Amino acid sequence: MAVPTAILDLARPARRIAVLTGAGMSAESGVPTFRDAQTGLWENFDAASLATPEAWNEDAALVWAWYQWRVGLVRRVQPNAGHLALSEWGRNADLQITTQNVDDLHERAGSTVLAHLHGSLFSPRCTDCGLDAEVAEPPEQPIARLDPPTCQNCSGIVRPGVVWFGEMLPEQPWEAATASLREADLLLVVGTSGVVYPAAGLPSLARRHGVPVVEINPDDTDLSDQVDEVWRTTAAVGLPDLVSELQ
Ligand code: APR
Repeated sequence: MAVPTAILDLARPARRIAVLTGAGMSAESGVPTFRDAQTGLWENFDAASLATPEAWNEDAALVWAWYQWRVGLVRRVQPNAGHLALSEWGRNADLQITTQNVDDLHERAGSTVLAHLHGSLFSPRCTDCGLDAEVAEPPEQPIARLDPPTCQNCSGIVRPGVVWFGEMLPEQPWEAATASLREADLLLVVGTSGVVYPAAGLPSLARRHGVPVVEINPDDTDLSDQVDEVWRTTAAVGLPDLVSELQ
């Protein structure tokens, strides 16, 4: 797909590129986005209501089973052509990735992620002492309830290492993300609906610092009006074309 000229004109001279990715980045790998309907065992559950401290306090076994199902799902899929294109671009340019995704597909494509704003499926920790726990093996079959493991150090309950709705973002990734945007020559926003704050405020923060912002998304989003250029394409189609034009 031809890359819009206005986007090439912004990307070609950019020495430092910041990228902000959301669930759409991994959609073509087969990871459902948050606003997609859930399937199978989880079709009657709303992702946004499972990803809360309230859900955990009410029924930790339900929430743990859902996260372990997602661990299994992510392990079975592969990075897509969009993840691979960003990894290739990062080998030839100063490119820093901030993601809202809790999967590890950027890393498996060969990128180093500067900031996982919403944590990771692969960093469970103790609810009591905060110690990192080992990633538990997901069950082979989907299961509706699964008791979370206990901490090896203090016997506290282990929770997913993700940021739930209503929780604070971890400070260090947030600081790293905002610093990277402020210093960038271009911010590329890929596959996010721009409805969940504070991450959704990053594109406007970049613009306040004079950094041009390009959105790559097949659909209109809450950010579309605030960016300099939009490209209505998908991550796995648009990014490889953009990166090959820049080589
Ligand atoms: N390529 C690019 N973008 C895509 C693709 C694709 N193949 N498929 C879908 N999209 C876009 C959709 O148009 C939508 O704008 O990806 C976006 C996905 O939006 P959300 O599901 O809202 O995901 P995200 O923006 O990452 O959600 C933010 O909310 O639920 C919480 O913590 C969770 O990190 C998540 C946060």
